[in-house]
Amino acid sequence: MHVTHLSLADFRSYARAEVALGPGVTTFVGPNGQGKTNLVEAVGYLASLGSHRVSSDAPLVRMGAPRAVVRAAVRQGDRQQLVELELNPGKANRARINRSSQVKPRDVLGILRTVLFAPEDLSLVKGDPGERRRFLDELVTARSPRMAGVRSDYDRVLKQRNSLLKSAVMARRHGGRDVDTSTLDVWDEHLARVGAELLGRRLELISALRPLADKAYERLAPGGGPVGLEYRGVPADGGRGEAGGDGGALHADADGAGAGAGVGGGFSPAELYDGLLGALRESRRAEMERGVTLVGPHRDDLVLKLGELPAKGYASHGESWSLALSLRLASYELLKSEGNEPVLVLDDVFAELDVQRRARLAELVVPGEQVLVTAAVPEDVPDVLAGARFTVAGGEVVPE
Ligand SMILES: Nc1ncnc2c1ncn2[C@@H]1O[C@H](COP(=O)(O)OP(=O)(O)O)[C@@H](O)[C@H]1O
Ligand SMILES: [Mg+2]
Repeated sequence: MHVTHLSLADFRSYARAEVALGPGVTTFVGPNGQGKTNLVEAVGYLASLGSHRVSSDAPLVRMGAPRAVVRAAVRQGDRQQLVELELNPGKANRARINRSSQVKPRDVLGILRTVLFAPEDLSLVKGDPGERRRFLDELVTARSPRMAGVRSDYDRVLKQRNSLLKSAVMARRHGGRDVDTSTLDVWDEHLARVGAELLGRRLELISALRPLADKAYERLAPGGGPVGLEYRGVPADGGRGEAGGDGGALHADADGAGAGAGVGGGFSPAELYDGLLGALRESRRAEMERGVTLVGPHRDDLVLKLGELPAKGYASHGESWSLALSLRLASYELLKSEGNEPVLVLDDVFAELDVQRRARLAELVVPGEQVLVTAAVPEDVPDVLAGARFTVAGGEVVPE
C-alpha cells in the first residue's frame, strides 16, 4: 500500500500542510526542528492511533489550536481510501472514512499500515519491558485490528481490578472489614479471559517473528546472531515448563514444544486462560498487600538475545541498533507476507548508523512499495534510496 496524499491541519508545528506522495522512496530533508518528524509522525498516527514520541495526544495539536486533523489518501492495489482523524485532546477523537459520517477511530485501523524506524527504537533493546510490550501489541494490532478492542478491554479490566485491590488494602489498613473476595474472583476471570487472548496473540506473533528477525539480523550484521526472542511472563508455559526462580514466576520460552504450531505459539486458549487464572489466584495474597495486579500481560517482557546473551546490558551500541532494526524489518516482512505490505517510515535513522549498517539497511528497505525517509542532510541517506525529495523548512514542505 502507499499514501498518495497527506493533509495536516493544526498538527504539531503545521497550521496546514498538503503533501502529494507517490510509491517508491520519498525523502524529506531539512535542518533539525523544522517539522520532518512531525510529518511522518502524522502518518504513523493514522496507522496506529498513537505517536511514536508521546503517549498523549495533547502535544500533537498545534500550540493554541483547539484540535488537529490528519488525513491521508491510501491506495492498496486499485482501491483508494481516505482516512481522517480529528484529535480533540481531553475529549473523544473523531474519525471518518471516505468522507462518510463518523466512525470510531478504531475503525480506521488497517486501512493504513506502517512500520516506523526511529531513533527511539534503541529503547526496544535498552529500555524497560513496557517498550517491548508496546512493540508487540502494536504489531499484534497491525496484523489484526480487532485486537485494539481487546487491548483496551484489558486495560479497562486491569484498572478496575486494581482499584478493587486498592480499596481492599485501604479497608484493611483502617481496620475495616475485608472486602468481598467473590467480586475479585469475577475480575480475575475477566482479566484471565482478555489477558489470555492478548497473550496468545503475542506468543503467536513471536513465533512468526523469530525466523524473520534472525534473518534480518544476519543481513545487517553477518555472523553476529543468532537472534533469540523469548517471552517472559506468567503463565505462558501453561504449566508445562519449569518454574523459574523469579519469585514464583514461570519463565515461558515460546521456543518450547510446539512453538508456532497453534494458537498462542503452541498453547491453546484454554491453557493460557487456566494458567493465567491460576497465577492470579496464587498472587492474590501478595496483591492484597500491595494493592496492584502483579501478574498478567501488563507485567511481561520480551527478552531479546544475541547468541546466548541477553542483549539488554550486554550488546554493544552497534549490536543494539542492528537488533532494533531487525525487529522493525521483521515486522515489515511479516505484514508483507500476510498481504498487508506496510508503508516504511525511516525517521532520521541513517544519522544513527555507521556507513556499513546504513548501506545494508538501505538495500533491505529499497524494494518497499513506499518508503518515507527523513534526514537533516541528504548525505546521510545512501544513494540507492534516491527518489522524490521534499525540503522541509519554515513550516513549508516543498518538492524539489
Ligand atoms: N504542538 C506543537 N505546536 C507547535 N509547534 C510544535 C508542536 N509540537 C512540536 N512543535 C515544534 O515542531 C518542531 C519539531 O519538529 P520535528 O518534526 O520534530 O523536527 P525535525 O525536522 O527535526 O524532525 C519543534 O520546533 C517544536 O517546537
Ligand atoms: Mg526529526
